[in-house]
Amino acid sequence: MAKGLFLAAALAATALAAPVVEERQSCASQWAQCGGNGFSGPTSCCAGSTCVKQNDWYSQCLPGSQVTTTAAQQTTTTSKTSSRASSTSAASGGGSAPTTTTTSAPSPVVTIPGGASVTASYTGNPFSGVVGWANSYYSSEIHNLAIPSLAPSLAAKASAVAKVPSFQWLDRNVTVDTLFANTLADIRAANKAGANPPKAAHFVVYDLPDRDCAAAASNGEWSIANGGAANYKAYIDRIRQYLIAYSDIRTILVIEPDSLANMVTNMGVAKCSAAAATYKELTVYALKQLNLPHVAMYLDAGHAGWLGWPANIQPAADLFAGIYKDAGKPASVRGLVTNVSNYNAWSLASAPSYTSPNPNYDEKKYIEAFQPLLAAAGFPAHFITDTGRSGKQPTGQIEWGHWCNAIGTGFGTRPTTNTGSELADAFVWVKPGGECDGTSDTSAARYDHNCGLPDALKPAPEAGQWFQAYFEQLLVNANPSF
Ligand SMILES: *[C@@H]1O[C@H](CO)[C@@H](O)[C@H](O)[C@H]1NC(C)=O
Ligand SMILES: *[C@@H]1O[C@H](CO)[C@@H](O)[C@H](O)[C@H]1NC(C)=O
Repeated sequence: MAKGLFLAAALAATALAAPVVEERQSCASQWAQCGGNGFSGPTSCCAGSTCVKQNDWYSQCLPGSQVTTTAAQQTTTTSKTSSRASSTSAASGGGSAPTTTTTSAPSPVVTIPGGASVTASYTGNPFSGVVGWANSYYSSEIHNLAIPSLAPSLAAKASAVAKVPSFQWLDRNVTVDTLFANTLADIRAANKAGANPPKAAHFVVYDLPDRDCAAAASNGEWSIANGGAANYKAYIDRIRQYLIAYSDIRTILVIEPDSLANMVTNMGVAKCSAAAATYKELTVYALKQLNLPHVAMYLDAGHAGWLGWPANIQPAADLFAGIYKDAGKPASVRGLVTNVSNYNAWSLASAPSYTSPNPNYDEKKYIEAFQPLLAAAGFPAHFITDTGRSGKQPTGQIEWGHWCNAIGTGFGTRPTTNTGSELADAFVWVKPGGECDGTSDTSAARYDHNCGLPDALKPAPEAGQWFQAYFEQLLVNANPSF
């Protein structure tokens, strides 16, 4: 997940000052679990937090004021977490990430603060002159879920991971108030306290109706058939309101992982062809609404092993440039993000066998081949690439693009603008390492065969949940090491 809130269960007691005997608290601390099947701890949150249901097994205390609890029936929907699908070869169907069943939780009542007096506008590379923010959500996962069971030598390294800036995924409507607003407030406080360079915000916009159209068992919380387009527009409008209120914070947005790439290669999937017009309309809407002087947007463009194939790359350039033009060439649309949640190398001396015969066998070759086609079609794009798990190439990969919990990977290059490529604005951590790509339990409703392949680490929990063994693998194989 980056999504993900599905995480983890922070134990209430961990927030206390080292009690040897844990006393049962009457309220659950911020980030702690506050409900779910089989949960026996306190179900109300201490002051300042709100209990938000993530799924049937897990509710968590998130920062924020009281919720309005309505007795209205709750709708069960499925929601994909931060894992991503990817198509492995030209025109092949996209894999998809399993989803987690969630129940729409009552939203906290949050008042959007007044607008900032300053605007963090920029020219050129939006990553220049700022640094990313290590958000408290990912940090809480590491400190509450990972570190307690790590050997001391690894625990110190894990604390260092918690300080690496990574993206947060607005993968459900509720996260706009519970994550987006809180992180922006945290960043404003840090910047007011003199952070130098100033901190920038990094988010993934990810809640299209009929999301993950190529997935076997995955989709977002909203469906096109049930008013999802209007819900999505309201979600984008609310994001816009927060962005305006926090215009003192430069904000980088990754727009809708997988969606447009599916429009290139997966139109043979009925759900994708049915969703295509809506995906395009809503993406254009988002690009227009979020076009603000302090915002930079990067549309998700799959990865080398997906759109980098010769048969796909020109149609992809035409599609992305068409969306850009339909949105009126917004100044904030800086370009494309590649490799989100994937495992491709940045630059390789020779082609791994599983990439044959694609000449664009790493992300650098992919963007160098893609950029001229985009420019010719009217979209002068720059690029960012997810290096969160790129420290070590998966060795046993059977087929290119296997995206689920690949064995043998490590944390990769830290976020930086020092990419060595004029086309690449930055390396970034979009997928928070340690959050599961999908369950390996073949009997689970959201099981995806990619997560059961021999090159996927098992046993793996549901997508978005904390996967301790995977986190340890990333830590041990980190390159550079921590
Ligand atoms: C999305 O969240 C907003 C703000 O909390 C809320 O007003 C709105 O009703 C939610 N949308 C849906 C479809 O639940
Ligand atoms: C793409 O991401 C994966 C894992 O998220 C990583 O293994 C791979 O090396 C990344 N590619 C680049 C160019 O960083």
